Amino acid sequence: MNVKNIMMTLALVAAIGAKAQKEVVAPQNVYARQTMSLNGDWHYFVDQQEQGYYDYRMNPTNWGYFVNAKPKKPSDLVEYDFDACPTMQVPGDWNTQDEQLFVYEGTIWMKKDFEIGDGLRTTDNGRFLLYFGAVNYEAIVYVNGKKVGRHVGGFTPFCYDVTDFVHEGKNFVIVKIDNKRHKDNVPTLIFDWWNYGGITRDVLLVSVPETYVEDYSLRLDALPQSADGKNSVIDFSLKLNRPVAGEAVTVTFPELKIRRTFSTDENGCLHEQLSTKKSKLELWSPDNPKLYKVLLEREGETIEDEIGFRIIETRGKQLLLNGKPIFLRGVCSHEETAYTSRRCNSAADADTLLSWARSLGCNFIRLAHYPHNEHAVREAERQGFLLWSEIPVYWTISWQNEETYANAERQLTDMIRRDHNRAAIIIWSLANETPHSDARDKFLGRLAQTARSLDNTRLISMAMEVTGASNYVNRLQDNMNKYVDVVSFNQYIGWYRDVNDAPKMKWEIPYEKPVIISEFGGGAKAGLHGDKGQRWTEEFQENLYRENLAMLDKIDGLAGTCPWVLKDFRSPRRPLPGIQDGFNRKGLFSDQGKRKKALYVLREWYEKKR
Ligand code: GCU
Repeated sequence: MNVKNIMMTLALVAAIGAKAQKEVVAPQNVYARQTMSLNGDWHYFVDQQEQGYYDYRMNPTNWGYFVNAKPKKPSDLVEYDFDACPTMQVPGDWNTQDEQLFVYEGTIWMKKDFEIGDGLRTTDNGRFLLYFGAVNYEAIVYVNGKKVGRHVGGFTPFCYDVTDFVHEGKNFVIVKIDNKRHKDNVPTLIFDWWNYGGITRDVLLVSVPETYVEDYSLRLDALPQSADGKNSVIDFSLKLNRPVAGEAVTVTFPELKIRRTFSTDENGCLHEQLSTKKSKLELWSPDNPKLYKVLLEREGETIEDEIGFRIIETRGKQLLLNGKPIFLRGVCSHEETAYTSRRCNSAADADTLLSWARSLGCNFIRLAHYPHNEHAVREAERQGFLLWSEIPVYWTISWQNEETYANAERQLTDMIRRDHNRAAIIIWSLANETPHSDARDKFLGRLAQTARSLDNTRLISMAMEVTGASNYVNRLQDNMNKYVDVVSFNQYIGWYRDVNDAPKMKWEIPYEKPVIISEFGGGAKAGLHGDKGQRWTEEFQENLYRENLAMLDKIDGLAGTCPWVLKDFRSPRRPLPGIQDGFNRKGLFSDQGKRKKALYVLREWYEKKR
């Protein structure tokens, strides 16, 4: 193919590409749809200068690497070849799969070939959706050489309708991934975790009918009137991907003997109440993580899910789960595997971390500082952990940049959209340790309103901070208190400040709301022992916990604590040789699962909080 023809076709492609950009809402509960996994080996190569995207005049080129060109005749010049490149696993970060990429931040191209056999299409005029669980950070996606879209944000799903891009037989998808950090990104330039790059979560080709269920919500409307849970009311709403009226949808809860059929309104939506009548509804809680199987059936599709029913609310300084006061025995955790320290992407990865949290006596986990993968959230729900889910509005982001705001709001919306049916999630967190300013307050205030408008059944919070005391009095003062249901803050007495002063400390939290300590703690190198005054020893961390927990116990309205952090985790901000070696060492477990002495102090304290 001579350059002119390539140009012509590609110009044509570009024209078509631009028109056909096809982002769609990621379908609720995508794993229950008819899918073909595109996980597995993907070819990859590094493109530091983004030569596969820009020409030598730095203008986007139409014949970039996304074309996946192959020389047609001996004289043809093609200076890349995906199929001759190594492969790495998807889902997975590139940092821990290729030593040369351990600290790499930049662009990498990845390609996957896939076959569409007959029988994959659900109905004749069905659609094909290309679903990504997450790609860190910027993803530009091409199918068979045509651009389908661009997505930013490393921790939430995105999806494209690629029906017009794929065909029976051989197809290929190419993704340009760039995890370079930028000031206006979310998160911004600096953050205390490893900037794992790549296609970090599942990739699925989803086959749906032309009209399909885009989203649905199933939740308890209010606490059951009767103690036996009979005549409980389940609030059911559903939205099709198109405004089609009169579509029949049958919802079945076999165990609750509920089977009802409703039809959609002119917007393709329905909103109904289901009564459990004589069936006892068991409420979901950490002690009884009861999930009910549910089936949604309509012409051409059946969606199965597991739903737990619970009510979370506050009353003054009390936190109530299913109408009863609860203390959140929590711990913070990053989405990084035990032992291997790579991005988690499966229920098995989550299970190990959850078992460690359970051994602390926890009933609550703060998923820091970004939405974790859906497998982890569902596994935690199955195991009875209450969850705090957060978007990476972390430290000082560009509060006045409208694009940054749109990005943050998109991540918030996608986090809530993916997990709004998860009973385990009780708190949406908007931010972590953000500096006071009018611009920040305005930014976070808008996010709070968005969160409230998307989901008024959960609590809203953020990790505020108390970074100093005067005369041993620590005051929490934050304008965002009026937007949150629970006031949460990080404090590092004994580590970043006021070592050994915890016993003298007093707290003033002038808000009539439950209080969660969303972070406290200190570092220790597992196995390093010495005097409790010697930093980095297990004895220092143990003493810090003992003093902090005694201090926190005196806080009026204390409804939960989340020590920082479950296990040591990778961070580029932790270079201290022989101690940190690229790990934040504030874990109660080492990255290799070694239990540090402080762990037992916390466990004993949590025992009393049951
Ligand atoms: C902060 C921050 C964490 C960080 C921790 C630490 O509070 O929220 O992300 O890792 O402190 O300094 O260890």
